Amino acid sequence: MTQVKPGPEFASRFPAAIRAALAQPEPGQWMPPLPPGCIRLSAGYPDPALVPVDAIAQACQRLLARERDLPLRYLGSPRMEALRGWIRDRMAMRGMPLQDSELLVTAGSCQAIDLVARVLLDRARPVWVEAPTYMEALEMFRNYTSDIEAIPVDHHGMDTDALAARLEAQAAAGRPMPAFLYVIPNFQNPTGVLLSLERRHALVELARRYDLILVEDDAYGELWFDEPLPTLRTLAPERVVYLGSLSKVVGPGLRVGWIAGPAELVRACGWFKKDLDHPFSEAVVGEYLAQLDFEAHVGALRRVYRRRRDVLLGALASWMPEGVHWTRPQGGYFVWVTVPGVDTAACLAVALAQGVAYIPGRHFYVDPALGTTHLRLSFSHVPEPDLAEGVRRLAAVLRSVR
Ligand SMILES: Cc1ncc(COP(=O)(O)O)c(C=O)c1O
Repeated sequence: MTQVKPGPEFASRFPAAIRAALAQPEPGQWMPPLPPGCIRLSAGYPDPALVPVDAIAQACQRLLARERDLPLRYLGSPRMEALRGWIRDRMAMRGMPLQDSELLVTAGSCQAIDLVARVLLDRARPVWVEAPTYMEALEMFRNYTSDIEAIPVDHHGMDTDALAARLEAQAAAGRPMPAFLYVIPNFQNPTGVLLSLERRHALVELARRYDLILVEDDAYGELWFDEPLPTLRTLAPERVVYLGSLSKVVGPGLRVGWIAGPAELVRACGWFKKDLDHPFSEAVVGEYLAQLDFEAHVGALRRVYRRRRDVLLGALASWMPEGVHWTRPQGGYFVWVTVPGVDTAACLAVALAQGVAYIPGRHFYVDPALGTTHLRLSFSHVPEPDLAEGVRRLAAVLRSVR
């Protein structure tokens, strides 16, 4: 019998920056396996019935019938350019006109966040985020720096007074300013809150005063229920890097997102985007969008998600025990619930056993202890009757653990 030699010991071979990153909590811990029948109030996914499966299938067929193997080549198809054109038109319509050199199509906005972090961060440079913020962005930033500061969010978005005080203290102490400030102004993940117009102006003003770059993640920006507010990029295109995504309005598996920012930054991100383009996916999406009445499509999404938001809020009002409170989102996918006196991470196992899933607040904070009594619910993915039943189950769990 041949002796199998032990393989090389890899951990000691990683460079210091990689070892530091790998010492962080394992990614994806917020997504434990769910028991069968569990109502998934945890998923930030679109409603499966609203993902345009047939239209995508038709786009795929039209594309391959017309272009044969072109979209399957490295260099891809002219329809990829149609996608870029669509993004530029949509951005212009929303008050954010773009030069070609200011746009990079990415594999979802996750890749966009990662590329921006990659070119702007290193271990010596802090990044500032909201508290709470999108957990995957936190994971990505932790791969590049351990210096992450968080500015509190309230019902009107990031607290710009707290930010101003923090910036002033930073400057007074001669400490390094953040390489950028990562902010989700529209229907923030996880709280669902909207950054008020007044605070948008205040934020841009602070960015100008302290020479800051704002990275504006707008994954939910199209999904407003009342009326849209101007994006940060509309207010200060010179210092805002805008990240867009089709995941929440078409389908996340397509992996189509983009960076819209100053040409020099976009060029640097493109330099390090070594997975090349994704011709097939980009061409299919370009073909799909070319035939789509996007206003009608997104209008239908807004109506469905608005109704779901109402169902979820109604169920919370009906079932939740005294003292529990929550946000009232004006768009997006999420409601943020505060349960004083309950450790939401500890109580997740009970909730899963009772057939309902949520995301414990701790995952959304640089300092997980700040999230102990919070949890995120999503109203996007689950049909209306299940939304109400999920909240009823959750309320029973919270009563029992209190
Ligand atoms: C705030 C935010 N940014 C980015 C993403 C990632 O989106 P994509 O699928 O485009 O990578 C999400 C998805 O949950 C999100 O909530």
